[in-house]
Amino acid sequence: MSKDLNQKIYVAGHRGMVGSAIVRNLQTKGFSNILTRTHSELDLTNQAAVEAFFQTEKPDQVYLAAAKVGGIHANNTFPAQFIYDNLMVQNNVIHQAFTHGVKKLLFLGSSCIYPKLAPQPMGEDALLTGKLEPTNEPYAVAKIAGIKVCESYNRQYGQTHGIDYRSVMPTNLYGPGDNYHPENSHVIPALIRRFHEAKIANAPEVMIWGTGTPRREFLYVDDMAAASVFVMELDKTTYDSQTERMQSHINVGFGSDVTINELAYAVAKATGYQGNICFDPSKPDGAPRKWMSSERLNKLGWTAKIDLASGLTAAYQDFLGHN
Ligand SMILES: NC(=O)c1ccc[n+]([C@@H]2O[C@H](COP(=O)([O-])OP(=O)(O)OC[C@H]3O[C@@H](n4cnc5c(N)ncnc54)[C@H](OP(=O)(O)O)[C@@H]3O)[C@@H](O)[C@H]2O)c1
Repeated sequence: MSKDLNQKIYVAGHRGMVGSAIVRNLQTKGFSNILTRTHSELDLTNQAAVEAFFQTEKPDQVYLAAAKVGGIHANNTFPAQFIYDNLMVQNNVIHQAFTHGVKKLLFLGSSCIYPKLAPQPMGEDALLTGKLEPTNEPYAVAKIAGIKVCESYNRQYGQTHGIDYRSVMPTNLYGPGDNYHPENSHVIPALIRRFHEAKIANAPEVMIWGTGTPRREFLYVDDMAAASVFVMELDKTTYDSQTERMQSHINVGFGSDVTINELAYAVAKATGYQGNICFDPSKPDGAPRKWMSSERLNKLGWTAKIDLASGLTAAYQDFLGHN
């Protein structure tokens, strides 16, 4: 076994949708020394506890996939918790990683860091060019801070301490480990539940909110994990060739988007629902398009592998395993 496969890799948030996919990916690649802690074992908002953890464990690498995550309702209702928890988690993990000699760290953000009216597709250079979507602004500000903390540590300590902290910004994700809550879930898990329940009930039609015309981009979570490990493992010269010192984050998208109409028919097919699909244009549509540019990542040599139909079939199997 090579020395690299024995590195001690801490995956923060390993029980979450993305963290668990990163663990799966690392295990498949043969990494055998993966370090994890559940939320109840280690509260990452607790500075002293995080310091003690790094002091004891001294990992070689960190994937920072722990975050307080939620939908529009949760973000609107608990804005203080969203900004406080996320700033604390990322500050504690990044600073203690640095203090305890971690050379490589990957911070996970989100496409909500980009301005509400950013030109489409959204490139990395759209960051800090306009006002954010108000509903999740506190969360987005924390994520922007995370990118800037990584960049600032690289700028101040990169040369002297040999650290290289990177950031990836995924588009909408779906797949195993998703949240299928009836009221509180993202569009794909919500549609999977609705079409599944309609199939079981032999319902003649499923009504979808809005016109069906908005376009959205979706990436299967195992692709996201693969992209995360790919970016972490890139050599510094290659990574630097597509990033800038003060614009160092990398988008991770599928590469193309679909209309909500197309998505609804794809989910119906994956779940085996054969009734009608209707749209209610009196309900709000949201932004007409949200699509990330993945040009930087493509130029670095990575593209998504799992198409929507295969991803939805696998996601539906995951749903069935939990319901
Ligand atoms: N899912 C998406 O569509 C999506 C899209 C773009 C970006 N992302 C990004 O990917 C990252 C991970 O998201 P996810 O979807 O995997 O979220 P998730 O399923 O909610 O997982 C987050 C994990 O972090 C843990 N955690 C939260 N606060 C913690 C704390 N104070 N101490 C220790 N652990 C804590 C959670 O544990 P508990 O559940 O026990 O609290 C959970 O296991 C986030 O940065 C998110 O912004 C996700």
